[in-house]
Amino acid sequence: MPAPSVRALLLVLLLTAAGCAAAQGAAKEEAAAGPNDGCLMCHADPSAKSAAGKAIAVDAKKFAASVHGAMSLPCTTCHADVQEGVFPHGEVKAAQCASCHEQAVKDYAGTAHGKARSGGRDVAASCADCHGAHDIAKRDDPASRVHRANLESTCASCHGNEALIQRANLPGGNVASRYHDSIHGQAIANRTSAQGAAPTCTSCHGAHDLRGKDDPASKVARANIPSTCATCHMNAKAEWEKSQHGRIAQSAAGAAPGCIDCHTAHDIAQHTDPKFKLAVTDRCGTCHADFADTYRDTFHGQVTQLGYAQIATCASCHGAHQVLPKENPLSRVSDQNRLATCQACHPKANANFVSYDPHANRHVREQGQLLFFTGKFMDFLLLGVFSVFGLHTVLWFVRSLRAMRERRGTPRH
Ligand code: HEC
Ligand code: HEC
Ligand code: HEC
Ligand code: HEC
Ligand code: HEC
Ligand code: HEC
Ligand code: HEC
Ligand code: HEC
Ligand code: HEC
Ligand code: HEC
Ligand code: HEC
Repeated sequence: MPAPSVRALLLVLLLTAAGCAAAQGAAKEEAAAGPNDGCLMCHADPSAKSAAGKAIAVDAKKFAASVHGAMSLPCTTCHADVQEGVFPHGEVKAAQCASCHEQAVKDYAGTAHGKARSGGRDVAASCADCHGAHDIAKRDDPASRVHRANLESTCASCHGNEALIQRANLPGGNVASRYHDSIHGQAIANRTSAQGAAPTCTSCHGAHDLRGKDDPASKVARANIPSTCATCHMNAKAEWEKSQHGRIAQSAAGAAPGCIDCHTAHDIAQHTDPKFKLAVTDRCGTCHADFADTYRDTFHGQVTQLGYAQIATCASCHGAHQVLPKENPLSRVSDQNRLATCQACHPKANANFVSYDPHANRHVREQGQLLFFTGKFMDFLLLGVFSVFGLHTVLWFVRSLRAMRERRGTPRH
């Protein structure tokens, strides 16, 4: 505690500067005019500062327009440890909300932010970080920081703030900017027809029930993600649940993909976007490396790798949410359905065409002599062609160099 005399001196200096000293005597009469006039006598001055140099000004107009100001709530309902007419104030703790919003305060304590704060991480969001302090508006008011249209920037003040992300090591890095560029963020930012239906941060995370992804009660805990997405994408979840992936993901075995393994959480793109088609093929390959390798050896795979995604990708043949083992008659690559699957793009395909194995491994001789030797032949042919043309190019280069030197040399001789 600084010596009270020093504080008092500073207070007097401040009051004089603010021109408040003369008003002090009139404070009692003015108190009748409004419950907060006594406090605003000093705090309404825009230049008011504490001894430590912190701004302590309160915008009286903004406060009057806020949900609390509009009901003439006394300052001391939130600043309960500040006593009317007693100066200096003594130690002033953080504003309290619990006397009126008991449930919100209780719920908040269990959130990732609440837990981090009670654990000493002051950078985690407080009530005021999400709602404001003296300018709090109702959630359906366009001026509210938690209004649908403003939530992204409210969260981005930390989760999109590069300096803070680095300094406080925020989980996930710049989540807000990635979300902003996703199909969901774009629907809201560009006010597309899907604007009203697209999710903002709290649609997936909740607000007073927001938990870290490692907490099993979190909406974004691994096991709960499909249900969270399914608040809007019911069909995708229904299909996925019946697939081999869905069945295994929901069983104890676990290792099969859920929504974000294929789509990501904050970089979600439109499914027709070629970048997504190429990326999702790579993602299948993180678990099915052998099938991804053989796919890349085929015509389909090689053209796709060149960035042309209109050709068959994994999902064109296996489905996206309907992936099943080939023995299952419902699988798109089962004996029953394979012809129809190829015919979607090769209308003239017949049983013979379909006998082509899209995953034949041309590096393994047992998988077919003809394929093995054709593969080897193609390798040699490729090598041969490149060697001949390569040598040709080198010789041509040498020749043109010599010709150039001769031409430059001519006038001098
Ligand atoms: C006579 C002028 C004066 C009056 C009247 C006054 N205050 Fe203050 N208040 C100050 C000064 C000066 C400080 C800074 C104290 C310091 O240096 O720590 C302060 C600090 C505060 C703080 C803490 C700010 C912070 O975070 O450091 C709060 C909250 C506050 N006052 C609320 C009130 C309320 C509520 C009232 C009315 C009941 C009120 N004040 C009346 C002068 C005044
Ligand atoms: C709805 C609750 C609420 C009411 C009512 C309220 N405040 Fe605050 N006040 C806060 C919050 C929240 C903060 C942010 C810091 C904190 O958490 O203590 C704050 C901060 C302050 C500060 C510190 C400077 C700052 O802006 O950070 C002062 C001074 C202050 N209030 C004065 C007042 C005065 C004067 C009134 C009445 C006109 C008032 N407050 C009414 C909630 C309230
Ligand atoms: C991470 C951001 C965040 C934090 C921190 C937060 N809130 Fe909220 N709060 C929200 C959002 C978003 C809504 C709107 C929810 C909705 O529209 O359903 C909301 C709604 C509310 C509401 C109105 C609905 C209700 O539950 O009555 C109150 C009151 C409220 N918050 C108070 C608080 C208080 C008090 C604290 C601190 C203990 C707090 N909030 C902390 C984001 C937050
Ligand atoms: C003295 C009681 C009281 C205190 C203390 C108080 N509030 Fe409120 N608050 C109210 C009342 C009453 C409403 C209006 C509720 C209504 O009309 O639905 C309200 C409304 C709100 C809303 C808007 C809710 C909505 O419908 O969207 C938010 C957010 C909020 N308060 C946050 C806070 C925060 C944060 C604090 C602490 C810094 C706080 N309040 C302190 C009484 C209080
Ligand atoms: C479409 C749903 C959805 C939206 C919208 C969304 N998130 Fe997430 N978020 C998730 C999921 C799912 C996870 C869990 C990711 C994982 O398990 O790797 C997550 C994880 C996070 C994490 C933790 C990251 C980590 O790697 O630890 C943070 C922080 C986060 N989100 C913040 C935000 C913010 C801020 C916004 C808005 C700008 C937002 N989220 C919008 C679904 C969403
Ligand atoms: C004032 C800064 C701040 C604001 C504003 C803020 N956060 Fe956070 N948030 C943090 C910090 C710091 C943590 C890390 C807490 C910890 O260390 O565990 C965090 C943690 C999280 C986590 C948990 C990550 C995980 O899986 O561990 C999620 C999800 C999250 N925030 C989402 C949001 C959303 C959504 C909003 C807006 C409604 C928001 N945050 C607003 C600072 C903030
Ligand atoms: C194994 C990877 C994978 C998993 C797991 C997955 N998806 Fe998909 N999803 C895809 C692919 C690939 C497409 C594009 C399909 C196409 O091009 O026809 C797609 C398309 C979509 C579409 C747009 C087309 C449509 O069907 O409406 C949505 C929405 C979608 N997925 C949501 C989800 C949700 C929600 C989950 C979790 C329940 C999920 N996905 C799980 C790979 C996956
Ligand atoms: C609040 C509702 C909502 C939630 C929750 C939600 N989405 Fe979406 N999602 C939408 C809307 C609306 C669109 C369409 C945006 C557009 O077309 O501009 C969309 C678009 C998509 C698309 C692209 C669809 C296409 O036609 O190609 C995919 C993929 C997707 N979401 C996946 C997910 C995943 C995965 C989750 C969970 C992590 C999720 N969504 C959570 C509403 C939601
Ligand atoms: C996170 C890892 C992972 C990702 C990503 C993944 N899968 Fe799977 N996949 C599995 C697991 C685990 C199984 C179940 C294997 C079993 O039945 O034992 C499976 C099963 C399959 C099956 C049925 C064959 C079988 O052995 O049961 C096919 C076909 C398949 N996946 C194709 C795909 C396609 C196409 C993609 C991308 C769109 C993809 N997978 C993405 C892990 C993954
Ligand atoms: C042109 C269509 C086509 C493409 C593209 C394709 N596959 Fe296949 N895939 C098949 C067929 C047909 C089979 C069954 C082969 C057989 O009869 O052994 C199969 C078999 C599989 C199996 C084993 C299924 C089982 O039940 O044992 C997996 C896993 C698989 N593919 C994954 C992938 C992945 C991952 C990709 C993309 C990297 C991919 N496939 C691309 C058609 C395709
Ligand atoms: C999403 C569309 C798509 C699907 C599904 C598809 N292909 Fe293709 N495939 C193409 C395209 C495009 C080409 C290159 C142009 C062409 O030759 O028709 C091609 C080329 C081929 C080629 C080499 C060129 C040729 O025509 O001889 C073979 C072999 C082939 N596909 C076999 C298959 C088989 C077998 C299936 C079913 C298991 C299948 N494809 C499913 C789009 C597809």
